[in-house]
Amino acid sequence: MNKNILITGGAGFIGSHVVRLFVNKYPDYKIVNLDALTYAGNLENLKDVENAPNYFFEHANILEFETLMNVFEQHDITDVIHLAAESHVDRSILSPMDFIYTNIIGTVNLLTAAKNYWKENLNTHRFHHVSTDEVYGTLGAEGLFTEETGYAPNSPYSASKASSDHFVRAYGETFHIPYVITNCSNNYGPNHFPEKLIPLFINNIIHKKPLPVYGKGENTRDWLYVIDHARAIDLVFNEGRNGEHYNVGGFNEWKNLDLVKLLCKLMDEKLHRENGESEKLISYVKDRPGHDLRYAIDASKINKELGWKPSVTFEEGLSATIDWYLQNEDWLKHVTSGEYQNYYTEQYSNR
Ligand code: NAD
Ligand code: DAU
Repeated sequence: MNKNILITGGAGFIGSHVVRLFVNKYPDYKIVNLDALTYAGNLENLKDVENAPNYFFEHANILEFETLMNVFEQHDITDVIHLAAESHVDRSILSPMDFIYTNIIGTVNLLTAAKNYWKENLNTHRFHHVSTDEVYGTLGAEGLFTEETGYAPNSPYSASKASSDHFVRAYGETFHIPYVITNCSNNYGPNHFPEKLIPLFINNIIHKKPLPVYGKGENTRDWLYVIDHARAIDLVFNEGRNGEHYNVGGFNEWKNLDLVKLLCKLMDEKLHRENGESEKLISYVKDRPGHDLRYAIDASKINKELGWKPSVTFEEGLSATIDWYLQNEDWLKHVTSGEYQNYYTEQYSNR
């Protein structure tokens, strides 16, 4: 059966890689990218697929219910892969309500549009909700997040994502919407907006600006190359079991400070700077409130059930990522002008 897949947030970081994968891999499927083009959405990310015959763009907001219904009807949407969200923890501390609107109310709007439109043969449809490992809260020095770990979100961002996960489950239980949820660890790669650690620090190293490490840099994250996340979404969307969660992660834990030092070393090499030059930019700043100490994913379920594992090592992925930013300075310039400057001042000037 041919599918008409609505991908929300397809102009963002991860969404653009998912859209590209689906447009190229499934020429018989119609891929409809719905995105509000907030500060994080950028159609430059999709230049290479924008003229593909199976690609359609809808400039719309998931908060507008009537618009969503029109998009379902106009494109006869059979499936949804939902990535649209406010995604940055620091912004959720500055302004939590934006996260409640888009991440919770927007998700419920989308679920309701799917429920209203998919009246019959529900089993032929699927709602894939893209979530995060942050819903599980924080780990101490030991242990991994599994699909059985209880939800304990600590930031307004993760609380809004946890709430959206619960609504997806509730629409599954109450209205029989067939769904899957993926909970992924920290992504990195090309097109990552430079408010997040890796692209922010790459941009600052290029411009020899301070590298604001929160606290002592002891927090740990589990990093996954974005293209491997897109591959995982493809597998779970097509082969995952209804009503299940799948954790996705790189088995690749790094303490922030160790990661920043590695980044500095690689950048010094690539920019032909003296070894140690970029490390001198490290500046310890006031910690993030409610800063989760450690995230680490047990990805054995998706590995055993669906055969997924990361395709690139961290060294390969990080090197390719730095190369992409060095070759796409125009992209960086575009996204760091305007609103970005205001955000940067608000976030970092008093730390
Ligand atoms: P992003 O911030 O780069 O992109 C979000 C996209 O959603 C943007 O294109 C934006 O324009 C769009 N959007 C925002 N609000 C919208 C609205 N109201 N209506 C329509 N479109 C809207 O985010 P990302 O890092 O690509 O994350 C994508 C998804 O994956 C999110 O749901 C996030 O929670 C989840 N996730 C991210 C990571 C990560 O490391 N970045 C890890 C796990 C899960
Ligand atoms: O775990 C998945 C999550 O990963 C996603 O759900 C989120 O959308 C995504 O933003 C990411 O959240 P984090 O908060 O882990 O990512 P961020 O890049 O903001 O921060 C990574 C670590 O680096 C974290 O411990 C905070 C620290 N940090 C971050 C910034 C922006 C700094 O020390 N300095 C900084 O300037």
